[in-house]
Amino acid sequence: MSEQQAQNDTSYDISIIRPQMRSEDFKMRGGQMEPERLKAIKKGLLALNTLELMASTIYRFQITTEDCELNRQLVAAMCNEMTHYQDFQVKLYEFGLRPSLFRWAFWVVGFVFGFGSRILGKERILKTGIWVETKAVHHYRELLDTIDWDDDTRKVIEKDQADEHGHVGRWKEMLESGIDG
Ligand SMILES: [Fe+2]
Ligand SMILES: [Fe+2]
Repeated sequence: MSEQQAQNDTSYDISIIRPQMRSEDFKMRGGQMEPERLKAIKKGLLALNTLELMASTIYRFQITTEDCELNRQLVAAMCNEMTHYQDFQVKLYEFGLRPSLFRWAFWVVGFVFGFGSRILGKERILKTGIWVETKAVHHYRELLDTIDWDDDTRKVIEKDQADEHGHVGRWKEMLESGIDG
């Protein structure tokens, strides 16, 4: 068990940044569902899809050209968030739904947080990550607790929540160890 995995209260392997998807993993899921249940799922997936766009944009604009460990970790985190973004876009279409037309607004917020923290230096980059990811972990918890997800989608949400938990841990660790690298 890796160090990051040990920090987690779940069995999800967060050293896997982009889990494999096979052709048979894609399913059309919304057809037989009660309208009320589908409505709640729609709300949850739209929130997750837009927030993951924000997260990947934050990391994207935090990365500098310096050859250092922080940038290496930020690239991995960006890839991880792009995977989450993709996860929920796929789920939206599987349920016969569509992404929000206004999700670009979350790109703008991500740019402001990402570029803004990059200008202020490494410490601010890490603190922004910790703040945003802690909020994400709680938001994921709320969506897991209040929505009646199908098993496959629930597993994706749980894995992604474990990843966010891992991000909090990694940024905290780097902040405490003095960041250089
Ligand atoms: Fe994420
Ligand atoms: Fe994250």
